[in-house]
Amino acid sequence: MNGRVIAVTGTGTGVGKTVLCAALCAELRREGVDCRALKLVATGVAPGTEGEDAVLLRAASARERPGVPRATGPAAPQGEGPAVLETLALPRSPLAAATAEGRELDLWSLVRSVEAAAAGCEILIVEGVGGLLVPLTRRHTVRELLRRLDAEVVVAALAGLGTINHTALTVEAARGAGLRLLGVVLIDTEGGTDPEFAAENAAQISAQCRVPVLGVMPHLPDVADLHALAGAAASLDLSAVRGPRADLTEAVAGADHRHLWHPFTQTSEWRDEEPLTIRSGEGCWLTDERGRRYLDGISSLWCTVHGHAHPALDRAVREQLGRIAHSTLLGQTHAPAALLAEELAHAVPGGLTRVFYCEAGAAAVEAALRIALLAQRHAGHAERSRFVALGDAYHGDTAGAVSVGRSEPFHTGLDPLLFPALTIPSPHIDEAASLRALAGVLEREGDRVVALIVEPRIQAAAGMLTHGDGGLREAAGLAHSHGALLIADEVATGFGRTGDLFASAGAGVTPDILCLGKGLTGGYLPLSAVVTTDELFGRFTAPYVEHRTLYYGHTYTGNPLACAAARASLQLFEEEDTLGSARRLAATLGRLLEERVTRLPAVFEVRRSGVMTGIELRDRGASFDPAMRVGRRASLAARRRGVVVRPLGDVVVLNPPLTMSDAEARMLVEAVAESIAEVTGGLS
Ligand SMILES: Cc1ncc(COP(=O)(O)O)c(C=O)c1O
Repeated sequence: MNGRVIAVTGTGTGVGKTVLCAALCAELRREGVDCRALKLVATGVAPGTEGEDAVLLRAASARERPGVPRATGPAAPQGEGPAVLETLALPRSPLAAATAEGRELDLWSLVRSVEAAAAGCEILIVEGVGGLLVPLTRRHTVRELLRRLDAEVVVAALAGLGTINHTALTVEAARGAGLRLLGVVLIDTEGGTDPEFAAENAAQISAQCRVPVLGVMPHLPDVADLHALAGAAASLDLSAVRGPRADLTEAVAGADHRHLWHPFTQTSEWRDEEPLTIRSGEGCWLTDERGRRYLDGISSLWCTVHGHAHPALDRAVREQLGRIAHSTLLGQTHAPAALLAEELAHAVPGGLTRVFYCEAGAAAVEAALRIALLAQRHAGHAERSRFVALGDAYHGDTAGAVSVGRSEPFHTGLDPLLFPALTIPSPHIDEAASLRALAGVLEREGDRVVALIVEPRIQAAAGMLTHGDGGLREAAGLAHSHGALLIADEVATGFGRTGDLFASAGAGVTPDILCLGKGLTGGYLPLSAVVTTDELFGRFTAPYVEHRTLYYGHTYTGNPLACAAARASLQLFEEEDTLGSARRLAATLGRLLEERVTRLPAVFEVRRSGVMTGIELRDRGASFDPAMRVGRRASLAARRRGVVVRPLGDVVVLNPPLTMSDAEARMLVEAVAESIAEVTGGLS
């Protein structure tokens, strides 16, 4: 069981962080708490030495403290484990000091070292480096490291003049990253701060920042005196530091079981288990309320593109939040929506230049159907009223989307809500037969067809059923030759999942209407879009009395926060070569699946397009009895191995963030392989 990690960060350098860490540790140890303190990075330290701060922290952490309780001198006590994780010679930021030595710190190895240290004690006090926004690596500041550690934070601040502003900024930066703040300690580093003035600062900080001020630490003439250090800490209010870490798991589970209704979740099974209660995310990892970490193997339902808590996406949303959180697009506009529309028009397949926003993928499909129908009508084709859809298609759960994407048993009993579509067999099993069926339908009813709707390359929710690009091109050609429009639903396949930014473009197909969702905001916020041609848009442009206006829209359409995230996400595709990462990850997954999964006895088929993967489980070639819940059990077994995946029936789905590393991909596939073997053991 890991101990609590309490990080002490400063409002700047020289505010007394090390002394506070040592004091907290010494006092907690005196009270009988098994506490240790360490420093993440010491800069300005001569090679081969640890530096003075490490000596102090080591002494404060010592399990036995024989003789004189001082941090230095002949009887100085020795703590266990490292007192400093990284030392760098130059007195600069860790990034600059490491760069000067021709290296870069590794965030994950720091995380692992802290976790290893925390595993051996009840409370690990971790001294941050300077303040929260000090750069540690080229991409990460101290703040990201503390996030990954899921650390609780104590802010060390000066007691005197200037402290309110610096403390308020630090508190805001901590909150902005979702860090749990235990409180602020004001430190009289130089001595001589008027106690009344310090108390006034404490009161103002506590009222203005709504954060507890744990107290004011007096100036200590001899910081090596461990008795005096412990005494100084004892004068602080340490109840939040000493008490158990806040664990919301049970409160969340209770409220959830009493009041929440989950989508696509078996209510009976849900109530029997402790829910996976996610608190935070970072990169490809999720952390639950108990502090356990899981690899996100499904990108939080196929959404997360660049990883959780990407600094650029966080920044974009925060910046927009500083301006306005929501403003309507009905009859007015705003920069994030308009500029994103322009950027999307350049990113999507050629000729699609007009963007209509919704929130959910299903709503985009719904809007696409309506736009297609009305566009035909406005062009004088009121007789065109039917849609052609693929068997096994899934386009979301609103009535129109279900009408063209009916999948059993999801949609059993909904007939009174639905309109009939012309359904042709899925191209997955027999592409030629599917194309023949399409040709037949169009031959018979082509002049009554509004549009053909497809999920290009892979029918995702049907169980990752793949089909070829050539067939898609042929289908598009057939539809167009009969005057039908082509709607490409890329809610699932868009934004790099199949190895191209958009599957339709990769397949050499230009739809008339493109539906986007899920990864549009990098997986941050609900936003979907319909992108179409100016020609179709033009059919809705006429004098008011003709009522060609598109009377369709949702209240939060084009929400500025979501659009800001989407713009930042598109930019990251350029800046970080996300498509390159997606392609490398797809190749790695392919290799690993071949090594570890394909030949498992219960694996019937592994289907993939890019990183989108379905592993179909069968019992000697026949479907498992659904009551056995094999797919679900395999997913729960994977969760016990620290990996989150979610099945579609007995198809175990992998669909990781595009930035997943090789090592993480290996962990994902290993865990899934072991889980499948575990639950299908004895079956062939
Ligand atoms: C291809 C496709 N279209 C539409 C949707 C519906 O999207 P949403 O769940 O955001 O409504 C999905 C969801 O998985 C999908 O895979």
